[in-house]
Amino acid sequence: MRGRIHRRELLRILGASLALPALDGFASVQAAQKRVSELVNLADFDDLAQRRLSHMAYEYIAGGAGDEITMRWNREALDAIRLNPRVLVDVQPVDTRVTLFGQEYNFPLLLAPTAFHRLAHREGEVETARGADAGRVPFVVSSLSTRKLADIRKATNQPLWFQLFVLQKERRAFVREVLAEANEAGCRAILLTVDAPVTGARNRSERARFRLPDAWETPYYPDRTGRKQSGGLPISGALTWSDVEWLRGNTDLPVLLKGILNPTDAKQAVSAGVNGIVVSNHGGRELDTVPASIAMLPKIVGAVEDRLPVLMDSGIRRGTDILKALALGAKAVLIGRPYLYGLACGGADGVSRVIEILRREFEMAMVLVGKRNLSEVTKNVLAESE
Ligand code: FNR
Repeated sequence: MRGRIHRRELLRILGASLALPALDGFASVQAAQKRVSELVNLADFDDLAQRRLSHMAYEYIAGGAGDEITMRWNREALDAIRLNPRVLVDVQPVDTRVTLFGQEYNFPLLLAPTAFHRLAHREGEVETARGADAGRVPFVVSSLSTRKLADIRKATNQPLWFQLFVLQKERRAFVREVLAEANEAGCRAILLTVDAPVTGARNRSERARFRLPDAWETPYYPDRTGRKQSGGLPISGALTWSDVEWLRGNTDLPVLLKGILNPTDAKQAVSAGVNGIVVSNHGGRELDTVPASIAMLPKIVGAVEDRLPVLMDSGIRRGTDILKALALGAKAVLIGRPYLYGLACGGADGVSRVIEILRREFEMAMVLVGKRNLSEVTKNVLAESE
């Protein structure tokens, strides 16, 4: 496939990697570094991760819901958007800074909350945080983290955000403790995931008999009943707008709703006084055949009328994808699977290499559409605008 690593080249890299021990020592980390530096795009990371991860872990990470139609649409919809080049514009230096909730970030990219990083690396989320530190982007820690926030905090100087799933009344004392811990760790925002009251039909995980080793701790999800069988998330079908209100009353941090795909919900989020929205279909892992995130983004941006920042994820794989999302009104984007593949391929070095590839591609794209900074990125970078 065009843009993917050549098969012979992959075999050569793999040949080198097979001779190496696991990522547990200085020599192997050095070697891993060499390998990830040979990968040139995010598809290369996917290919190599598929070989490095266990079948069960890869199927859990890579899979989507149902027939993976939404997962495919996420990519097809981004691919179908055409950019509008501009030449002979002096754009040096390109400035990719963005301000979110009073904090300046140097690049409009965050690592999305994803579960169980020990599947990809034995240091789990601590290793991811090291990669976020080197790549200079914020890391949104999942409620399904396999490491404690205090340990993750020590591994990065970059901002952490924290993601929550459950707020049922009987769990609120626990959720308050978790919020206090997030505060203690200096988290800058809370993402409430609202699109996963049940786990989607993840047939690939089911077929691969996904389950976590009993020994792994999940400090922010102590109740593991049922999860081992389903490989899924806690069922929290009772989550409603009143829980959003409860959350707002129980944290001073900005609250964002992650998983909004419907403009009516977006308007309600504004009325509920939340601080931001993440337009997302969970990377196509929840309800199959819902639209691509990028397809709903302009409608949601229109519905909220600048009253809160809109972020977006699902399917971002290229710097040009980031540019397209920003052109359609996103303030920043998140990636999920790609950095997990980076983690699997080379630990922190793999994560930071994934970020650097996106950063480089994004800066190239900014130059080639003749834009100096993010405030200049509007619909006029899209070919449709001409
Ligand atoms: C996720 N996602 C997710 N979201 C969330 O709010 N809490 C979570 O614990 C997880 N866990 C998780 C695990 C894995 C393996 C994946 C791939 C995804 C969804 C994630 O935050 C994000 O919305 C998507 O990953 C974005 O799509 P891409 O970038 O993977 O295409």
